[in-house]
Amino acid sequence: MSMIQIIKTIFIFFGPPGSGKGTQAEMVAKKYSIPRISTGDLLRDETKRKTKIGEEVEKIMARGKLVPEKIIKSLILNRINNKDAKKGFILDGYPRNMSQQNDLMRAISKEAKVSAALINVSDKEIKNRLGGRRMCACGATYHLKYNPPKKKGICDLCGNKLFIREDDKPSVISDRLKLYHREIAPILKYWKKNGGLIKIDGEQSIWAVQRGILKKLKS
Ligand code: AP5
Repeated sequence: MSMIQIIKTIFIFFGPPGSGKGTQAEMVAKKYSIPRISTGDLLRDETKRKTKIGEEVEKIMARGKLVPEKIIKSLILNRINNKDAKKGFILDGYPRNMSQQNDLMRAISKEAKVSAALINVSDKEIKNRLGGRRMCACGATYHLKYNPPKKKGICDLCGNKLFIREDDKPSVISDRLKLYHREIAPILKYWKKNGGLIKIDGEQSIWAVQRGILKKLKS
């Protein structure tokens, strides 16, 4: 990967599937005026546009498995080198294993300020959350109970119809959780040792989690 020279701020959000990484990263992105970069969204965009990559990853994603490294590497490198990410960016869903973690460290300059945050949520609560999640193609995320759209089934931001993700089926959720717990341990260990890891209780309201993240990021 090539080196990026101008990056000032990088936030990385860790947490199990459904812990609120996307919801929180989107809010922090607005606050800091830097883009949220979600590998899940990049991949879903490929499947929506029926590209070659999209066709290759669609079934893998529906089963909750990790897509091949070379695809992730080229998508993420392309995205973080975009003009809008020059001041910095927020990573949501990346890195997901040690190979990606090592790629990331090679790709960012040593001067970049990197903050890593872990949103902790129990597996039981995750199953409850993902069952009620509704998505929009524009990237907005809702929850039937905790964060409902103003108009049933319609996105507040763009007016499109909301949908349920293929990988939010109960059997797939269990597999995604197993995979997450297996792969994330060495990455969290790395961040605890190098640069610190902010820990947030993700089982509070969306707004309380946001307040906690912003407070800890400032300090
Ligand atoms: P990805 O899209 O990254 O999915 P994920 O990591 O499983 O995370 P989610 O998007 O499901 O959850 P989230 O933590 O963002 O929670 P959200 O804010 O939506 O990846 C999908 C797939 O792509 C992977 O399985 C894999 O196949 C592939 N992939 C992606 N990245 C990859 C990579 N790097 N390498 C290889 N493959 C990769 O919130 C969830 C719900 O809860 C919402 O309804 C929300 O409204 C609600 N909610 C949020 N916060 C709260 C709260 N505090 N209280 C109550 N409800 C809340």
